[in-house]
Amino acid sequence: MRSGCGSWPACGGFVTWPRVVLSVASRLTEEIFVPLDRLALPRNPASALADGPAATALSEAGLGVVRSQFPALAREHSGRPFVYLDGPGGTQVPRPTIAAMTAYLERSNANHEGAFATSEESDAMLSEVHAAAADYIGAADPAEIVFGQNMTTLTFAMSRAFGRTLKPGDEIVVTRLDHDANVAPWLALEEERGIRVRWVEIRQDDCTLDLEGLERTLGPRTRLVAVGLASNAVGTLNPVRRIVEMAHSVGALTYVDAVHAAPHLAVDVAALGTDFLVCSPYKFFGPHLGMLYGRRELLEGLAAYKVRPAANEPPGKWETGTLAGESLAGLLATFGYLEWLGETFGAAGVCDGRGAAAESGGARRERLRAAMAVVGATERVLARRALTALSSVPGLRLRGIVDPNRMAERVPTFAFTLGGRSPREIATELGRLGIAVWDGDYYAYELIRTLGLAESGGMVRVGFVHYNTAAEIDRLIEALSGIAGRGQ
Ligand SMILES: Cc1ncc(COP(=O)(O)O)c(C=O)c1O
Repeated sequence: MRSGCGSWPACGGFVTWPRVVLSVASRLTEEIFVPLDRLALPRNPASALADGPAATALSEAGLGVVRSQFPALAREHSGRPFVYLDGPGGTQVPRPTIAAMTAYLERSNANHEGAFATSEESDAMLSEVHAAAADYIGAADPAEIVFGQNMTTLTFAMSRAFGRTLKPGDEIVVTRLDHDANVAPWLALEEERGIRVRWVEIRQDDCTLDLEGLERTLGPRTRLVAVGLASNAVGTLNPVRRIVEMAHSVGALTYVDAVHAAPHLAVDVAALGTDFLVCSPYKFFGPHLGMLYGRRELLEGLAAYKVRPAANEPPGKWETGTLAGESLAGLLATFGYLEWLGETFGAAGVCDGRGAAAESGGARRERLRAAMAVVGATERVLARRALTALSSVPGLRLRGIVDPNRMAERVPTFAFTLGGRSPREIATELGRLGIAVWDGDYYAYELIRTLGLAESGGMVRVGFVHYNTAAEIDRLIEALSGIAGRGQ
């Protein structure tokens, strides 16, 4: 029975779509949603590459082209460009994303599985965005991708479902480095299910995980290890592949929070070997959404909290209620933007330029990987400059990995304190100057407490993504130096 208000798809069929729907999908992806050939994005602009082919940083000209795709970056504050260093809290979106959201609402706004054109179009778009998301994170099967409101909501849903399989005395491992969204949902099971939560501590000198400690927490009762790929506070990249192997060696599952890593690197669930992985499109240039990967057997086998008429197969059984169609249409266009980035500035010049992505997941995955290689190379340049510059501000104390030779172990997210000034005061002063930064604990609740900074307001956090510039770092340093000078 089709209610039109359940989650999608009611009968779980990515491979059973009727021909008519598939043809609508390809027409839509060409005309509205992922129009690689019609994104109105420029192709191969002159001197776009800084110094060579794949995985080189964007040149100044290339960066200018990229920045022009993000309308928000044109905003000014007191006659100067507004500086977005708040990326870890959410990134800006490119034009195609905004256009696709509008197009969806203007033309294809409908609930799922209806027997009419707009619903068919909407369902076709949903099918395509699951496939594109699978390519983005390296999943083989689009049914392994579950969309929801945000990562936190998806994780609470999964922890509750997983909790049904646990017995008192079973153990879950969490870390002091993680965002609370990968901690609190597991802590809740302590009370509800009588399980034991075990903690992995951090090494305070560089804010990395104590892996020997992790080893000691693992045992025959360990059922799951919850760990982040990158810290949203200090930028540490955790050796997740190794952690997954350690967890699997005792028969435990892994739940990886890739929210902070996803805007910076090519996430690859197959290479990581993880059982679950979550991220949030609004942190990687998409609309406000959450996204969960789960191994198909697990998504099939675990019992979801769901309404009875909703699908019994993944992903529908996990996509509670009606999905945000306009946001998913926007996300599909975000993937299109990233494909363009990979195709134009990276090593993915293999594309025929006519939106082959819809036909060929492999080509799309390659373009997305190429995009993230360009992103990584561009960010590394920014990271080195930011690290050197921040270290030169009198009284500024950075936490986390600060050795310039260890940049490969972190993403360009920096947290610091400055003299005796409170992080909120500093963020407010920067805000007045048109520089957006975060202060506090940003829900890295345990880390800030472990570092003894909770009482003093946490830290100031600045985050760089591929659209940030060297000039913005200079603006930040000029402002911080002024604040430091006045504080002495
Ligand atoms: C590392 C990390 N995990 C989880 C979350 C929560 O994500 P969401 O807002 O999608 O629930 C955030 C948000 O800041 C984050 O940075």
